[in-house]
Amino acid sequence: MRVLILHGPNLNLLGEREPAVYGTQTLAEVNDVILAAAEHIGIDVAFAQYNGEGQIVDALHAARNQYDAVVINPGAYAHYSYAIADAITAIGIPVVEVHLSNISAREAFRRTSVTASACRGTIGGFGVKSYILGLHALAEMQGN
Ligand code: DQA
Repeated sequence: MRVLILHGPNLNLLGEREPAVYGTQTLAEVNDVILAAAEHIGIDVAFAQYNGEGQIVDALHAARNQYDAVVINPGAYAHYSYAIADAITAIGIPVVEVHLSNISAREAFRRTSVTASACRGTIGGFGVKSYILGLHALAEMQGN
């Protein structure tokens, strides 16, 4: 099983960006933790990070021919990007939405995700483990 881990805007600044909310690990360190867990589960993962909405739409389109599933952290786009929601619906492969923080317990504007309803499911609030739980969910779905 091949899974694209797709990080959205501002996640390139992990480690220095609001560490009290998002932790002290850099994106490279987060990806290393995800990679080790993926190897343990038996999933091949690839990583991408984009700040632009269109870049994320393009990456989702490309993923449909290259991967079996996507784990996406849409960042703030989760709260208002109908273009990303439509792309998730369009590609027809399972997509799991993850968030490092618990968006339901934060500012009002973060409590809605317009992309979540296009996804197979959502996991948030567990830091890097949100991504790993997403991989476990996909593996279970595939009967791994
Ligand atoms: C986030 C939550 C979003 O509200 C925020 O805009 C982010 C990160 C998270 O992983 O907790 O950029 O997606």
